[in-house]
Amino acid sequence: MTPGYRLTANAPLRDRNTFGVQASAPWLVEVDDASALAEVMALPQVAESESLVIGGGSNLLFAGDAPGAVIAMATHGLRVLSDDGEQARVRADAGVAWHPLVMWTLEQGLCGLENLALIPGTAGASPIQNIGAYGTEVGEFIAVVEALDRHAGAMVRLDRDACAFAYRDSVFKHQADRYLVTAVEFVLPRTPHLRLDYAGIREELGAMGISAPTAREVAEAVIRIRRRKLPDPAVVGNAGSFFKNPIVSQAQADALLVDYPTLPVFRGDAPHNRKLSAAWMIEACGWKGHRDGDAGVSAAHALVLVNHGQATGAALLGLARRIAESVHARFGVGIEPEPKIIGARW
Ligand code: EPU
Repeated sequence: MTPGYRLTANAPLRDRNTFGVQASAPWLVEVDDASALAEVMALPQVAESESLVIGGGSNLLFAGDAPGAVIAMATHGLRVLSDDGEQARVRADAGVAWHPLVMWTLEQGLCGLENLALIPGTAGASPIQNIGAYGTEVGEFIAVVEALDRHAGAMVRLDRDACAFAYRDSVFKHQADRYLVTAVEFVLPRTPHLRLDYAGIREELGAMGISAPTAREVAEAVIRIRRRKLPDPAVVGNAGSFFKNPIVSQAQADALLVDYPTLPVFRGDAPHNRKLSAAWMIEACGWKGHRDGDAGVSAAHALVLVNHGQATGAALLGLARRIAESVHARFGVGIEPEPKIIGARW
């Protein structure tokens, strides 16, 4: 009988965060079997410290070392639970890598996740910040999130409403230390409802010579756009968008448009709200392609902070603060980081 987990002392974390910054954890627990979680949580190395759960490490900035045990879910089960010919229910364990999951669902003839191709990270992390791209958010396709409720000390199944999904937000962010996601169940239709109107997808399909695309072809277009616009974390360290697009009142958006008529403004999360392009404001402040030693802003996309090699998390955080201050000074708008920051407060 294997214990269902592996424990390592003084674990380096550089390969476990896509920024590629140096950090370490007093203990790393890799969990291969979700049924071992109760035992894992009771280990003194975990119970007596401020533990941190990580997925693919693609939404994390280590501004310091992990204060306590780091728990990584290494469960990889992926299967169709039911299929009535119109839609199927798919279950993915927390450790399943996101992009291969998207491609696997498309190979099964299941649609919905095509606009979310090539997002780094894991299935278990996907509901936390309700990953989204090109007009789709994962929460729309999630039926159930299975998690260990650390308050109750029991496994729970949260339906979509209980997850309280919103733009880059969910109950898992609001009650950050409460839930440890073990699996996600998706409901995916067989008939595609393609969303092509966002951020150049139709144009990309046109360049590919496709006028009546399949869901797989939409995924291919998304992959091509992302490869062009977003730096590959395997080549240069980054955590995707470092800042969320700020949501402001319609009145504030209208006032800004008077002074900055080309500022991109999107619909917000309510009729009276608008979402502004943080990338545009950051670029307008002159940060795109900026570099302080190895800490920089991508030259391809102003929303992405990059580690050119040896940047520390503290240096990246310092740069992020200066960017936010300059955006606030010029536009009167606060921008907030999207990744979780360890070892410092924003
Ligand atoms: N823009 C600039 N300068 C730039 C980049 C973009 O001015 O350097 C402007 C563009 O003109 C465009 C607007 O900003 O009108 C929006 O750009 P883009 O379509 O790239 O989207 P985004 O709002 O910057 C969001 C997500 C991305 C996601 C894309 C595509 C957030 C925080 N980010 O970025 O998600 O891939 O839309 O849907 O919502 C991530 O979360 O890590 C991420 C990459």
